[in-house]
Amino acid sequence: MLPGPLSSALGGRRAEATWSVADIPDLGGRTAVVTGPSVGGLGFATAVELARHHARVVLAGRSSSRLDAADDALRDQVPEASLERLLVDLADLTSVRQAAAEAARLGPVHLLVNNAGVMAPAHHRTADGFELQLATNHLGPFLLTGLLLPQLAAGEGRVVTVSSQMHRRARSAPLEDPRADARQPRWSAYARSKLANLLFAFELDRRLRDAGLPVRSLAAHPGFSGSHLVVNGQLGRATGAVASILDASVKAMSQSVADGALPVLMAATADLPGGAYCGPSGPGEMTGPPVLVEASSLARDPEAQRLLWEVSEEATGLAYP
Ligand SMILES: NC(=O)c1ccc[n+]([C@@H]2O[C@H](COP(=O)([O-])OP(=O)(O)OC[C@H]3O[C@@H](n4cnc5c(N)ncnc54)[C@H](OP(=O)(O)O)[C@@H]3O)[C@@H](O)[C@H]2O)c1
Repeated sequence: MLPGPLSSALGGRRAEATWSVADIPDLGGRTAVVTGPSVGGLGFATAVELARHHARVVLAGRSSSRLDAADDALRDQVPEASLERLLVDLADLTSVRQAAAEAARLGPVHLLVNNAGVMAPAHHRTADGFELQLATNHLGPFLLTGLLLPQLAAGEGRVVTVSSQMHRRARSAPLEDPRADARQPRWSAYARSKLANLLFAFELDRRLRDAGLPVRSLAAHPGFSGSHLVVNGQLGRATGAVASILDASVKAMSQSVADGALPVLMAATADLPGGAYCGPSGPGEMTGPPVLVEASSLARDPEAQRLLWEVSEEATGLAYP
C-alpha cells in the first residue's frame, strides 16, 4: 500500500493524468546523471528533456562509441545542451567504483536516474560472480547510488529508479546469496531484478529520512515502450537486419520512448514526496500520460526491503550511512 498522502494523491492524479513535459521546471544550474543513455532508449529520451530544460546532463554508459552517438544525437535535438560523460559498466563493481571516483569532479548532483538495464539475456555470471540481470539492474545501481550519496546530499537531490510492470511477476524477492550458483529462468530473473528496483527505491527513501539526509528516492516505470530492450536482451545487440525487424515489431505494439520516459521525468521533476512511484495511466499501465501508480504488495513489504538491503550491502561491500 502507498503511504496515506500518496494514496489520496493517486486517486486524484489518476483521474487527471495531465502531467506533461510542459510541467518540467527550468533545470538551469542542476546536474542530472542518467545511466543507460544509448540512442533509441528511454535513458536517451529522458536525457533529451532534461537537457532541453537546461540541466547539465551526465550521460553514464558502458561504451565510449555509444556515448559518442548519444552525445551527437542529443546535440542534434538540443544544440545548446550541456553534456558530460561518465563511463560505467554497471555489471562490474570495479567499474562502478571507478566511475563514482571520476564523478567526484561533477560537484553536487541534483538527480540520479537509475535507468540502465537488461531484460532476459542468456544466463551469464559477471566478473564479480553475480547473475547478470541482478548485477546490472540492481547491484550496480545500488553501489553507484551509495557512492554518489554525498554529492546527492550536497545537491539536495533525488534518485529515480526505473522499474517495470514485470515486477508483479516476481514470486519472491532475490534474497538468496547472489553468488550462489543456482540458475533461474531468464524472465524470472528479470522480474525479480525489477522487484529489487522497487524494494531498493522504497527502502532507500526510508533510510534517507531516518538519517536526516536531504535526498529523496522515487521510482517510475515506462509501461511498454519501443526501445532496444527486447533486441538487446534477445540478440545482445541493437544493430543488424534481425534487430531492425524485431525493433520495428516492438515499436508497432508499444508507445514511443518519448512517452515512456514521461513517468521517469515526472518522478524526476514533479513536486512529489520520496517513495512516490510514477507510471502510465492507460490500461494495464502500458501506455498513456504519467500518474502516480501502485507497486505490488511485495514491493512495499518492509521486511523484504530490509533483507534485500542487507544482501546488497554484503554483495557490494558498501555500507550506506
Ligand atoms: N522498454 C520498455 O518497455 C520497458 C518496460 C519496463 C521497464 N523498462 C526499463 O527501462 C530501462 C531502460 O531500458 P530501455 O527500454 O531503454 O532499453 P534499452 O534501449 O536496451 O536501453 C538500455 C540501456 O541500458 C544500458 N546498459 C545495459 N547494460 C549495461 C551495463 N552493464 N552498464 C551500463 N549500462 C548498461 C544500455 O547500454 P548499451 O547500449 O551499451 O547496451 C542502454 O543504454 C531498463 O531499466 C528497463 O528494465 C523498459
